[in-house]
Amino acid sequence: MISVHGLHKHFGGFRAVDGASIEIAKGSITGLIGPNGAGKSTLFNVIAGVYQPTSGKVVMDGEDITGLPPHALFHKGLLRTFQIAHEFSSMTVRENLMMVPGGQVGETLWNTWFNRRRIREEDRALAKKADDVLDFLTISHLADEKAGNLSGGQKKLLELGRTMMVDAKIVFLDEVGAGVNRTLLNTIGDAIVRLNKERGYTFCVIEHDMDFIGRLCDPVIVMAEGKVLAEGSAASIMQNEAVIEAYLGTGLKNKVKAEAEAGANA
Ligand SMILES: Nc1ncnc2c1ncn2[C@@H]1O[C@H](COP(=O)(O)OP(=O)(O)O)[C@@H](O)[C@H]1O
Ligand SMILES: [Mg+2]
Repeated sequence: MISVHGLHKHFGGFRAVDGASIEIAKGSITGLIGPNGAGKSTLFNVIAGVYQPTSGKVVMDGEDITGLPPHALFHKGLLRTFQIAHEFSSMTVRENLMMVPGGQVGETLWNTWFNRRRIREEDRALAKKADDVLDFLTISHLADEKAGNLSGGQKKLLELGRTMMVDAKIVFLDEVGAGVNRTLLNTIGDAIVRLNKERGYTFCVIEHDMDFIGRLCDPVIVMAEGKVLAEGSAASIMQNEAVIEAYLGTGLKNKVKAEAEAGANA
């Protein structure tokens, strides 16, 4: 469904993504893992049109979508969520969902004056759809809660809910589990599996929690230093020497760096 060919994204001289090629099969829940700084979010950002690539190509269902802006990709059913949730904190959960679909009537003065009835009907349909989404995610009780009052995990669920307000085909989830408690992480995992099985969503998921990755994802792609290091089942990945080395290597580098900084501050 998505093919990324030889993708580079450089920031100045720094190669955040350094020639990555990946395939995301239609109907899969593909995992993307790797140490911090591996280039995972940058790769997502390039695929989702937030950044222009330095070079390389992104193809969706045979069509070259390289560098298309996020709204154009949105209309093709390619959506992403953010590592940090982007909610409208003073609006309710239901209102947040109702904000998502593009092209509502009611956006121009003309429509405001002449199409009041149509706007009311459209609002009702949107509210109904939002309530269906909340029901699916088992958070109907939060419909009238201000989004700013949600826990980190509930905000992640709301982000997932936003992808359900349009007909998403492929959704990129960046660190769905970050700061989320175990129970809510399971709820998020269940919602992802159901969206995949019942609604045909394809997912690409960045996550550090290996239990979560192991339960949901096949295949799993491992990135390190801007490159794809390995790909395979979660079980095979966890035994892969190069993968273990990449994690340990970064761990060691971070430790050395932290010690150097501590030394500098002493
Ligand atoms: N806008 C940017 N400008 C400069 N460097 C960036 C930018 N975005 C990311 N980087 C750098 O690129 C590398 C990869 O970052 P990122 O894609 O966020 O990694 P990951 O999501 O795997 O942790 C990091 O070293 C990060 O500091
Ligand atoms: Mg990241």
